[in-house]
Amino acid sequence: MRVLVTGAGGMLGQAVVRRLSGHELVALPRAELDIADPMSIGRLGVGEFGKFDWVVNCAAYTKVDLAETEREAAYDANATGVAYLGQACHDISARLIHISTDFVFDGTAERPYVETDKTSPLGVYGASKLAGEERLRGLPNVWILRTSWLFGPDGPCFPRTMLRSHRAGKQLRVVADQRGNPTYTGDLARSILQIVENDPFPDLYHVAGPETMTWHEFAGLTLAAAGYDVEIEPINTDDWPTPARRPAFSALDSGKALAAGIGPLRGLEATLPEFLQLLPN
Ligand SMILES: NC(=O)c1ccc[n+]([C@@H]2O[C@H](COP(=O)([O-])OP(=O)(O)OC[C@H]3O[C@@H](n4cnc5c(N)ncnc54)[C@H](OP(=O)(O)O)[C@@H]3O)[C@@H](O)[C@H]2O)c1
Repeated sequence: MRVLVTGAGGMLGQAVVRRLSGHELVALPRAELDIADPMSIGRLGVGEFGKFDWVVNCAAYTKVDLAETEREAAYDANATGVAYLGQACHDISARLIHISTDFVFDGTAERPYVETDKTSPLGVYGASKLAGEERLRGLPNVWILRTSWLFGPDGPCFPRTMLRSHRAGKQLRVVADQRGNPTYTGDLARSILQIVENDPFPDLYHVAGPETMTWHEFAGLTLAAAGYDVEIEPINTDDWPTPARRPAFSALDSGKALAAGIGPLRGLEATLPEFLQLLPN
């Protein structure tokens, strides 16, 4: 298959490039393809990069807190850019895999969210990502994967922050009243590979790690996997104010994806050691 990866310089983008290396890949970071720039995306739409069987969109504005004051930048990449990309894929008859987020939900559910649950983002980032999903509606051959709490060796992420803070001698205080599914980029990339190779029904799918936990528990498991025995102080969301509100409970039910042959993703017992091994020193 000939596959284009957009946002190829990002944390997920790099994992996807590694995992899809058996296919004919064109990996374009933002400097080479800006999905929010009509001139740039126009080159894709007229076939300047060639024909593609699949396009995997890993490009996004992902700064959750900054988005509150950079609303336009968030919507440019996450909504307008996604609409441009969707149209360009349609024009060159490429199938599109697009990544979305658990932050489309407000976190008031009492069981993991399924694809048909009502969306109600709490902040600009989640709203811009939801707008991106909506801009793809009606286009054929689009797979939207909502994922959550991504971590991987190729970019800044929560476990890296925990390790760096601990190694810098900081006393760790971590939020213990928000729950979600940590998801390893390598495993999400494998799910994307499964879609490319098996061509399941194009639809909206939740694809996240199998365990629901708090950030406090995630921090503890990360440090334990790295061989540290550390006391981590549990705190509440109110003790760690941030510009953007976050859902208190954003676990995703990946059952529909599993039934379509996408997954399963592995738990932290398997993924944290792999992550730690791949982490640059
Ligand atoms: N990280 C998480 O916890 C998480 C959770 C749920 C869902 N997601 C979703 O997962 C996907 C991948 O996220 P990630 O963690 O890999 O994010 P990331 O590391 O921030 O990567 C995003 C990449 O997109 C690039 N980009 C931004 N605007 C662009 C544009 N207009 N055109 C082309 N490229 C552009 C960025 O380049 P610059 O750095 O140069 O701007 C960056 O390389 C995103 O759709 C995100 O919304 C992430």
